[in-house]
Amino acid sequence: AQKPADTLNELSIEAQRGIEQAPTTHEHLLEWVSEMARLTQPDRIHWADGSEDEWKSLTDDMVEAGTLVRLNEEKFPNSFAAFSDPDDVARVEERTFICTKTKSGAGPTNNWEDPEEMKEILRGRFRGSMRGRTMYVIPFVMGHLDADDPKFGVEITDSAYVVCSMRIMATIGTDVLKKMDETDAFFVECLHSLGAPLEPGQEDVPWPCNPSKYIVQFPEDRAIWSFGSGYGGNALLGKKCYALRIASAIAHDEAWLAEHMLILKVTDPQESTKYIAAAFPSACGKTNFAMIEPTIPGWKAEMVGDDIAWIRFRGDQAYVTNPEAGLFGVAPGTGWSTNPNAMKAVAKGNTIFTNVALTDDGGVWWEGMTDEVPEHLVDWKGHDWTPDAGRPAAHPNSRFCTPIKQTDILAAEYDDPNGVPLSAIVFGGRRKTTVPLVSESFGWEHGVFQGATLSSETTAAAKGAVGVVRRDPMAMLPFIGYNANEYLQHWLDLGESHGAENMPKVFYVNWFRRTPDGGFAWPGFGENSRVVDWICRRVDGTAGGVETPVGVVPTKEDLNLDGLEITDEEIQAALAVDAGEWLKELPGIEEWFAKLGAVPEVLDEQAAGLRDRLNAQ
Ligand code: GDP
Ligand code: PGA
Ligand code: MN
Ligand code: MN
Repeated sequence: AQKPADTLNELSIEAQRGIEQAPTTHEHLLEWVSEMARLTQPDRIHWADGSEDEWKSLTDDMVEAGTLVRLNEEKFPNSFAAFSDPDDVARVEERTFICTKTKSGAGPTNNWEDPEEMKEILRGRFRGSMRGRTMYVIPFVMGHLDADDPKFGVEITDSAYVVCSMRIMATIGTDVLKKMDETDAFFVECLHSLGAPLEPGQEDVPWPCNPSKYIVQFPEDRAIWSFGSGYGGNALLGKKCYALRIASAIAHDEAWLAEHMLILKVTDPQESTKYIAAAFPSACGKTNFAMIEPTIPGWKAEMVGDDIAWIRFRGDQAYVTNPEAGLFGVAPGTGWSTNPNAMKAVAKGNTIFTNVALTDDGGVWWEGMTDEVPEHLVDWKGHDWTPDAGRPAAHPNSRFCTPIKQTDILAAEYDDPNGVPLSAIVFGGRRKTTVPLVSESFGWEHGVFQGATLSSETTAAAKGAVGVVRRDPMAMLPFIGYNANEYLQHWLDLGESHGAENMPKVFYVNWFRRTPDGGFAWPGFGENSRVVDWICRRVDGTAGGVETPVGVVPTKEDLNLDGLEITDEEIQAALAVDAGEWLKELPGIEEWFAKLGAVPEVLDEQAAGLRDRLNAQ
């Protein structure tokens, strides 16, 4: 039987000591930790200090418990492989909730429950959920600790894997807690439990989790409760739950943007530098684009961020920061030929891999890592694997989690608390047809329309069918922490208040279009630098392009294609704007707007404008 919330249990003696000896004077923090401990009933409490020693002892423990496999020290120093429960491999959008007082607060795209009712359900789930386990308390900051307004959080979790992964992905531990204490800082409460208590004498499993999962955001309380999953996006609460869902709600109130974007610094042969932010849905190329090796001579690219961008304004100029300290990258497809910068970063060690395959010499492998396929592997489910197995060795959403500082091409200003000035915003998705390699919007409102109608084929990054085309506004469909119509209005409002002419120029790309024979029309990866070159020259007003119904698109003469082996057929297929294809696309866009129900009028007008331009073709 469930006990009412006000009759919380007593603490174990050890857990009580964890409260009494807490390394903090932050009263609200102490109260909250103590209340959550009485709810979840851990055996003991550990305050994460973020130290090397702590990492060592936690990883040792996890190796002992079978949660981690220590990799070959020579190939991957201080690195580990984790293998999840086969049912806990991706974000779970069906089980993700935005709980606002009114249903319309969560809008037409999010799952909604009443916050009080949801908290009642969750208190039931969390009650006793840490029995037999350690409760870890992780003070963290997203973005710079010395930012004007540092964005603090504290994650409570019963997963050591989460502690170690958070140490890579964010700034955690003693320094953060000290600053929180000194300033009596507000922090986002992030409660996480695997939902797998251990009864006395019960043997643990390598990857505890619970089949019933809840990833719940309370944007009005700025709080997160996550239950049942140990997987990255569901469990590392600083990342998607805070830096996107909660932060987007904060950003709406404070007139900035929290976006699912990489941040790229590019320097052209004339030494002119620009910063570009790009929003692609999960597993659609952000990390690769952020780490691009330009193939055109004289260009230099550096990374500022690979997944999340916080865009703020000083005067009317947009500046962008990356709130994360690590990379949580898709492993499959990341290889020495496609993304050497990521390969070099992980080879330096200090990395946690999840759901990759193991090689016989204590290394890791995944599809696309090397051209040569190893003759024998142990696959992500622990079974022997040979190239004729007929199934992938690594899970399609297997990941590497690595400190961003290990990236050779990291821009020096990546952790400037003031951010970098933003010149262009790029939207992109994974479409076999219709969407050209690149188009430039006609202006801010049309750019917001391009973002609002962004479409992409679904990937393995979220549980569910793969390859289904869906609308994914600004690549934020799973991450908007409030009403999507208000979110789109917020984008328009920012253009209104800062002046459309001051906003970054907006582009829409598609690296994934196919030729009639099914191959990729565009070679992608490093060759995407040719698109970057065109984007930069458009920003400078020096590149040509043709006006099409969907935006300004380069001809093949407008692109720098020197040294690229590409057939006429391929480049035509990549760049084509086919009115017939787009007329077939329109009902999808109109259905999407109908589903949203109350899109800003400006966007309805944009849809009508697109229809008129297509019909005039
Ligand atoms: P993210 O999840 O958005 O960061 O996406 P990633 O950069 O990790 O890439 C996801 C998948 O898309 C990987 O398998 C990549 O190999 C693949 N990918 C990335 N960029 C390109 C590209 O330019 N062309 C093609 N064909 N595939 C790409
Ligand atoms: P991704 O990040 O965008 O790099 O795939 C993880 C996710 O979105 O689930
Ligand atoms: Mn992402
Ligand atoms: Mn990524």
